[in-house]
Amino acid sequence: MIQKSEKGVIVATISLALIFMVALVYAMVKKEVDVVNCVPFNQQFLEAGSHKIDDKTYKVNYVASMWQFQPAQIFVPTGSEVEFFLTSKDVAHGFHISEKNINMMALYGQVTTYKTTFKTPGVYPIVCHEYCGVGHQNMVAEVIVNSPLQH
Ligand code: CUA
Repeated sequence: MIQKSEKGVIVATISLALIFMVALVYAMVKKEVDVVNCVPFNQQFLEAGSHKIDDKTYKVNYVASMWQFQPAQIFVPTGSEVEFFLTSKDVAHGFHISEKNINMMALYGQVTTYKTTFKTPGVYPIVCHEYCGVGHQNMVAEVIVNSPLQH
């Protein structure tokens, strides 16, 4: 027999779970928040660089190490879809682009991926948000998104 007080707790728990799920779906659909993925590690991901696939598609290998990101700057045209492949040469680092709500971890032996589209021109700072030693606060990089009108 379920007591009245228990019933209240059950209803509250189910309601909270529902609110949480609605918030998740809302974030995915309306705010374009997606989950970070992983791909199997291999040595090629330790070669930092931006690769142009076509005019609007880029794949970028980011290598984090104490205390820098490589490449430190990338340039892409407005509207480009950029896929990040992130790994670390040493300790755990973070990879945060606040304007795009991107939050990834750079870990040795692991490749974290995320795909996003830069619709608005501007400079998007990347910061390390995982404490990684004395140079942590200087560990920054930039994604520079140019308006096609500037070219
Ligand atoms: Cu790298 Cu903090």
